[in-house]
Amino acid sequence: MDHFLYRDGVLHAEDVPLTRIAADVGTPFYCYSTATLTRHFRLFQDALAGLDHLVCFAIKSLSNQAILQTLAELGAGMDVVSGGEYRRALAAGVPGDRIVFSGVGKTRAEMEYALTHGIRQFNVESAEELRVLSSVASAMGAVAPITLRVNPDVDAKTHEKIATGRKEDKFGVPITQARAIYAEAATLSGIEIVGVDVHIGSQLTDLAPFEAAFSKIADLTRELRADGHTIRRLDLGGGLGIPYTRSNETPPLPLEYGAMIRRVLGDLDVEIEIEPGRLIAGNAGILVASVIYLKEGEGRNFLILDAAMNDLIRPAMYGAHHDIVPVQEAAAGLELHPVDIVGPVCESGDTFAKARNMPPLAPDDLVVFRSAGAYGAVMSSEYNTRPLIPEVLVKDDQYAVIRPRPSFDEIINRDTLPAWMTPKP
Ligand code: LLP
Repeated sequence: MDHFLYRDGVLHAEDVPLTRIAADVGTPFYCYSTATLTRHFRLFQDALAGLDHLVCFAIKSLSNQAILQTLAELGAGMDVVSGGEYRRALAAGVPGDRIVFSGVGKTRAEMEYALTHGIRQFNVESAEELRVLSSVASAMGAVAPITLRVNPDVDAKTHEKIATGRKEDKFGVPITQARAIYAEAATLSGIEIVGVDVHIGSQLTDLAPFEAAFSKIADLTRELRADGHTIRRLDLGGGLGIPYTRSNETPPLPLEYGAMIRRVLGDLDVEIEIEPGRLIAGNAGILVASVIYLKEGEGRNFLILDAAMNDLIRPAMYGAHHDIVPVQEAAAGLELHPVDIVGPVCESGDTFAKARNMPPLAPDDLVVFRSAGAYGAVMSSEYNTRPLIPEVLVKDDQYAVIRPRPSFDEIINRDTLPAWMTPKP
């Protein structure tokens, strides 16, 4: 459920008509709902209630400071994958002991920074990284809490580009080598083993692959304990999928996910961490765009919007579906017509939808891409020198721009000329 609903024929974000924000801010823009973010975060809190747990929001899905602070104030921890994300979490008021650091390519500088400012744990992804972390921590006289990210060789049955738990994927250490690497970790200075980590992919719409992976992690936990290691924490990653269409998709609910976690891992006496991104942010955000032209092609009609693939890359990159609806509610019974919905960027890949049935629309009409809160703004670029679009946060009847649209001068003046060129007036 989200808080983007039609009222009096106009799509609202909570209590604010999107027409009002569009008139003030201009299109395109991202718009997020505080109530939806809060609701989704609490679904996970409720799903794990009674278990010792921490919900670490995967910042990569939506990293605006106002969003992070909203979640931090609800008690969220954060999952970060870069020094930049780590700094964002700190800047949002999240203490180091609620930040977990994931990613296959952590640098010495990132390790040092996190060890200096506080870290709950590093989710270490290779023996090589483990040795570097040991040397960095030892040199600082620090101790790095670690889990090893284990690759359980489970097919998450999701899009090829976002499956991460098969043995051919670059992530984690093969589960077959885990005991040997834990044995090495136990001998390394500056390293404290605290648990095991797993993340098998994103947009999972079935609990079975999670359950298969978590069962393997439960077995591994027992083996590692028998080997003499202290395993007090399991980080189960993110990955729970969301409905991208309003009709036929019914991915498992956080409550069902929580019940499965209890069933598979409940007797291990461990602290549970999860790293959801999409389920918290996805349906808490939309992208609002305007129609520029309706173009009649040969055998196809095109709806050309002012948003493009640089603003929302998911359709071009993963063939992802986003529902696209008019802000002014279409009258019931109105005939729909198939159109290709495209942006102005000079690539055929700049296509959001092909032959999508849409009500009649005219230039300047507003449309909304639903489910665009996660992996939307964060993956945008300035391709074609299109400015990064603003982000707006709504709370009840208030809204605020939480990232303004940059001016063209700001963009152009970020570039610097070499000394051998004379600046043009
Ligand atoms: N933890 C780790 C270690 C991850 O790699 C990810 C996502 C998450 C947590 C959060 O997963 P979520 O709950 O959001 O599924 N850009 C793609 C998704 C990439 C996901 C990468 N890792 C998309 O737009 O679908």
